[in-house]
Amino acid sequence: MPDLRFVNADKLPPYIFSEINNLKSKARSLGEDIIDLGMGNPDQATPQAIVDKLTETVKNPLTHRYSQSAGIPKLRLAIADWYKRKHGVDLCIDKEVVTCMGSKEGIAHLSLATLSPNDSVIVQSPTYPIHSYGVVIAGANLKSVPLKENLDNFIDDIETSILKSVKKPKMIIINFPSNPTTQIADKFFFEKIIKIGKKYDIWVIHDLAYSDITFDGYKSPSILEVDGAKDIAVEFFTMSKSYNMPGWRVGFCCGNKDLIEALKKMKSYLDYGTFTPIQVAAIKALNECDDEVKHISNIYKSRRDELCDGLNRIGWSIEKPLATMFVWAKVPKKFENLGSLEFSKMLISEAKVAVSPGAGFGIEGDNYVRFSLIENEQRIRQAVRGIKNILGN
Ligand SMILES: Cc1ncc(COP(=O)(O)O)c(C=O)c1O
Repeated sequence: MPDLRFVNADKLPPYIFSEINNLKSKARSLGEDIIDLGMGNPDQATPQAIVDKLTETVKNPLTHRYSQSAGIPKLRLAIADWYKRKHGVDLCIDKEVVTCMGSKEGIAHLSLATLSPNDSVIVQSPTYPIHSYGVVIAGANLKSVPLKENLDNFIDDIETSILKSVKKPKMIIINFPSNPTTQIADKFFFEKIIKIGKKYDIWVIHDLAYSDITFDGYKSPSILEVDGAKDIAVEFFTMSKSYNMPGWRVGFCCGNKDLIEALKKMKSYLDYGTFTPIQVAAIKALNECDDEVKHISNIYKSRRDELCDGLNRIGWSIEKPLATMFVWAKVPKKFENLGSLEFSKMLISEAKVAVSPGAGFGIEGDNYVRFSLIENEQRIRQAVRGIKNILGN
């Protein structure tokens, strides 16, 4: 028998979301109508102009060859223009911008490129799993710091964690607007994080995935807007969410030139870049689709209102988030003792609604479930009716 110790794969715990996915598939195979508010997988079509650009470009055989791992120059230029227009940030397209095959790939490979088993990394918890598991896959030590409602307390806890560390952590990974908690940050928060990073010489990695999906007048800042942020920070963005392009696999990372260089180098060994026609279509998206992005954000707002108003009406008290495509909901008191996984299983079997158990994002999330706003208003109303039956209110 060959050796069955697969050290890197073995470091990863069973994916908690797969239990829910299996239950969902099983119920559907039995003909049940499950309303899927589980994965953050946008349900709407990619805007037509982007699809048209892809189909036009793919007809040119020159685009069928290997592409460029770091991204074709015109895409890097479109990314720099996007940052300038949205955030007033100037970027050098050769040294401060790299495209990724989705930001998940980029985040994982940045960890792999920069960390060793002697390093530790501070990561907010709960959080999107690759923030933590990128560190674990790289063999480094994870230092989870619980997110606090008051972000000043969260910053204090980060500083305490640094001071308590025998060896200074190498990196801090944060994400605002946050998946799954939907928490938002202002520029003042980012200034404080950069100040801490500089005080202790620690890299800061920020994931800006949901900056375009904001509501009620909230505008999400980039960490790169902070003066001097590029000395120690990079930021990831993805086209999966606000451009409805999850299957296309386009993301990017911008900021500090040393981190960008490390990621570029790593990727140059691993991939040949996203298919060129997709990169060309992404240029179209970044340069010309601001209206489509607003429209997509408005769809999420309408679904957010439907879900939050509905749940509040049936006695599940929930504050409306100001950003993201999620609603982060505390497990109702009556079911608190179940924990988020068992409660989520019950929602599937009795309410016919799939959600993500909060524990899948870190143990701090275990009192919560995350709803993704990936079904329309009518289906969301149906979900609320199903949930009403189990709440018994
Ligand atoms: C916070 C956050 N970052 C990154 C990603 C991954 O995005 P991509 O599709 O670009 O890999 C997600 C996807 O859910 C996310 O929620």
